[in-house]
Amino acid sequence: MEPATDPLRYRQVADHIRAQMGHGLLRPGDRLPSVRRLAATLRMSVSTVVQGYALLQDERVIESRPQSGFYVRELRAHPPPPAMSRPVARPTAVSISQLAVQVVQASDRPGVIQMGTALPRTDFPAVRRLHAQLATLARRPDPRLSSYDIPPGYAGLRQQIARRAVDAGLMIDPDELVITTGCQEALLLSLRTVARAGDTVVVESPTFYGTLQAIESLGLKALEIPTDPRTGISLEALQLALEQWRVAACLLTPSFSNPLGSCMDDQRKQALVQMLEEAGVPLIEDDIYADLYFDGTRPRAAKAWDRSGNVLLCSSLSKTLDPGLRIGWVAAGRHREAVTHLKLVSSMASATLPARAAAAYLEGPGHDRHLQLVRRLYREQRDRLLEQVARQLPGSRITCPPGGLVAWLELPAGVDAMTLYSESMASGLSIAPGPLFSATGRYRRFIRLNYAAVDHEGLVRALAILGRLAARSGV
Ligand SMILES: Cc1ncc(COP(=O)(O)O)c(C=O)c1O
Repeated sequence: MEPATDPLRYRQVADHIRAQMGHGLLRPGDRLPSVRRLAATLRMSVSTVVQGYALLQDERVIESRPQSGFYVRELRAHPPPPAMSRPVARPTAVSISQLAVQVVQASDRPGVIQMGTALPRTDFPAVRRLHAQLATLARRPDPRLSSYDIPPGYAGLRQQIARRAVDAGLMIDPDELVITTGCQEALLLSLRTVARAGDTVVVESPTFYGTLQAIESLGLKALEIPTDPRTGISLEALQLALEQWRVAACLLTPSFSNPLGSCMDDQRKQALVQMLEEAGVPLIEDDIYADLYFDGTRPRAAKAWDRSGNVLLCSSLSKTLDPGLRIGWVAAGRHREAVTHLKLVSSMASATLPARAAAAYLEGPGHDRHLQLVRRLYREQRDRLLEQVARQLPGSRITCPPGGLVAWLELPAGVDAMTLYSESMASGLSIAPGPLFSATGRYRRFIRLNYAAVDHEGLVRALAILGRLAARSGV
């Protein structure tokens, strides 16, 4: 039988490893003793050693590599981030759909290392629990499961979403929520509610291509605003744009934007909400990545400062749990009725069974633990990506996102993102080329990389491919 765990003994495990590092017995890149071996050496329980290793992981002293064990982290200076973006300063019609469809369709080609889409990892126990929940429900002879889940959608799910929204600083009435088919539909319905063909919508630059495609499909124009890779959209530039142009809506991802990973702080979110309220411009807030923060606590949603119902907050379970579920929602503020009506006429309802299964899953106790695990893994992967970029792509710049799944990389001089995209696809690696993220074909020196869905070996191979191709075409 293993000895009982003393709540503080795990610190001795961490001290023991640190001491070995201090004496040069464990160096960066070295493998640590297995948990069982160290437990036997220190005469401690396995769970104590696991806790000790978890502490060192949190302190970013060591890292775990799937199926391989724990390693001392290799410390390299991270490459610098790209500068503030400088997009074209006028509303522009969008036409990126062809390229977007091409990149998305290539995303499930077998044998390709997938870093081109923003898909999360899904091989988690929580996802298996959710699927078991679906199977259990599907076996139940319940006629309600074969009926339309009429908008605003299943009350039990709306209640769970409202309960969890407290972490975002929100007190949402479940009746304000409309269930949608993923966040993409939530964004599209929100845009259709507040803008008409020919209108102008403000976006960050660069911005998620799904947003640009939604704008394109509705015949709207995009007005890209300079955005800082760390602090998000420039409020000064936004103020000027609001004075110069008639803007129908502002569609932003204030917490961990895609592709930059930028995050606005509370003060700037509050100022944003106030500025748009005064200008009479609705804010469509895409909050899909906010639960995936790597440090501190969950960033608050901008909607937390909304006093007049001017903010339509859109999100989903796609990045945190399972994109195949297609569960999304919008807290539509004063636009709730209009959004509900549009949802009804667009698709009648979202699928009934996933909504019930998601509600049952969220009612259970495991989602917070799942999120903790996911955040730790993704942060490790982000760090590995930055290390590999420093090692294999000298001369490049890359964002260091404090949350989310993706980073934005500025290629070394002379490397063209579209050429690199074709060549890397031919070499078995998918990436997202920069021009996908702009209405005006900018960012030919940039690519977006997903660090979350790829394993450690895949990451090393991917950066080796990029390094080789960039060295061939760089100046
Ligand atoms: C910023 C952002 N919003 C929305 C979506 C779409 O999410 P969903 O799969 O829930 O429709 C994505 C997917 O990549 C995204 O990155």
